[in-house]
Amino acid sequence: MGLDVQTRSSDPDGGPIGVFDSGIGGLTVVAALRRLLPNESIFYVGDTARVPYGGKSKTTIERYSTEISKLLLAENAKMLVVACNTSSALALTYLRDQFSVPVLGVIQPGAAAAIAVSRNKRIGVIGTRATIASKAYDQAIQAMCAEAQVFSRACPLLVPLIEEGMFRDEVTDLTLQRYLESLLQKDIDTLVLGCTHYPLLREAIARVVGAKVTLVDSAQNCALAVQDALLKKKKINQRADGNLRVALTDATEGFLRVAEKVLGLDIRNVELLGVRES
Ligand code: DGL
Repeated sequence: MGLDVQTRSSDPDGGPIGVFDSGIGGLTVVAALRRLLPNESIFYVGDTARVPYGGKSKTTIERYSTEISKLLLAENAKMLVVACNTSSALALTYLRDQFSVPVLGVIQPGAAAAIAVSRNKRIGVIGTRATIASKAYDQAIQAMCAEAQVFSRACPLLVPLIEEGMFRDEVTDLTLQRYLESLLQKDIDTLVLGCTHYPLLREAIARVVGAKVTLVDSAQNCALAVQDALLKKKKINQRADGNLRVALTDATEGFLRVAEKVLGLDIRNVELLGVRES
């Protein structure tokens, strides 16, 4: 399977920040970037033709992530932001080895934020099967704070519930209770929402875990890491006209419009990038 790429002329200010996700969930990172860095242009690609990545193998996730990264680089992206926990967990090193632009993921910023807010250093992590099986969060958290204990749980039913817009629904609440029960029994005081879809379910998750557990989402922390990296590389855009381009690999606009509304984004045209068998 391959993707059609058309190269655009280069931008004198260094091009957009290239952001991708397996689908629409990465727009939570885009919303945080738009708030923090309104001057930056963003080109977002959601691989809606091949979502979900969360149950796929490392080799497949690496291949898909490489193909989407090449689409962004063909548009002169000055940096790649992997706004997908699954891809960040399994393909980040692979991408960094191939491309010369900075490649940022969501795991490291999320892990750092969790350590910063946790008082008892008992940290829960939820994500897709692939993210949880990779132990990427466990490793990132323990590398920064050896005494931290990480309790993780794959929650494969949450992405479909979110994509159905079931944010306030007893089925969602029951599903969350079932998933989070074992983590709450471990006396966690912090829960990492280790999937870019999950911030859309923040209210429901907060209802289930209660006020004693602090929720950490990768979106805001990833945006701060992007700002930091741009400042260090002197690649901050000085013009005040950042724009947002959104492309999908399949026309699945229904959930896009739900996410747009919930996140307060203004997405006018959605481009369609062709996917072909090769
Ligand atoms: N965006 C993915 C993540 O953050 C979740 C959806 C999927 O399984 O592809 O892990």
